[in-house]
Amino acid sequence: MKYNDLDIKKWKESDINVDSLWIIEQREKSGKHSNVYHGNFIPQIPNQLIRRYTRNEEIVLDPFLGSGTTLYEAENLNRNFIGFDINEDIFNFVKNNMKNSSEIQYSIKIADVTSQEEFDNAITTSLESMKAEKVHYVLMHPPYLDIIKFTSHKNDLSQISDTDLFINKMLDVIKNCLSYLEKERYFSIVIGDVYKKGEVIPLSSLIINAVKQKFQVKLKGIVVKNIAGNRAKQGKGGIWRYRALNSDYYIFKHEYILTFKKMF
Ligand SMILES: C[S@@+](CC[C@H](N)C(=O)[O-])C[C@H]1O[C@@H](n2cnc3c(N)ncnc32)[C@H](O)[C@@H]1O
Repeated sequence: MKYNDLDIKKWKESDINVDSLWIIEQREKSGKHSNVYHGNFIPQIPNQLIRRYTRNEEIVLDPFLGSGTTLYEAENLNRNFIGFDINEDIFNFVKNNMKNSSEIQYSIKIADVTSQEEFDNAITTSLESMKAEKVHYVLMHPPYLDIIKFTSHKNDLSQISDTDLFINKMLDVIKNCLSYLEKERYFSIVIGDVYKKGEVIPLSSLIINAVKQKFQVKLKGIVVKNIAGNRAKQGKGGIWRYRALNSDYYIFKHEYILTFKKMF
């Protein structure tokens, strides 16, 4: 089954990154991308993934819509899109950004994606509006535990400080998403590790193990991506380095893009 529109005969000219280390120096800022939301994507991430794992006019699902980075890339690449977020303010921002867009079919809603009932309601009405039954790729960019608090909603994943609870809630979200992903298609999770109580919590490894145990999937890629243009770290290199040297830890300079193939 063909799952992208890449022309393999032109492989030498392709700019699709197939390496497991992505160094992205400059954040793409054109079009609707504005970098207003703390914890948003570098647009090149969804751009690469959408082109690698979907075909023209297929449906991309983003259960953590945020400021809409994946939606704007879906629009640039002529993919249809479904996106949810629990944060009403950022949802309204995205809605406003899209008010003159009619190039692609898209459906965005406020929803708590950890709740099966809310998720089912949101996605079935979205799919109905597109006369579709399944999505073709899922890109998830959850909060990294409670490192950045997005809302005060009690079901916001960024309210969770307990690692086991966070992983279990993520499994709920993944289960919800996978029910609507076509068989033998792909999903990616973008996540970073965190420090808590003086030690590293390897969220990326914990998620990989939990997903592998719970679902019939194949792990296709662990891409390490540098943190460039991250606002929290901008211009503070000296201070962070001083603090790390004065203590016993390393400064996070990378995040992970984990890609799986759904086998059921
Ligand atoms: C890391 S941000 C996503 C950023 C996005 N990729 C962008 O480029 O703007 C995570 C998002 O997950 C949302 N979120 C947290 N818990 C949620 C839940 N239970 N249901 C839906 N969205 C949730 C937050 O409101 C936040 O916007």
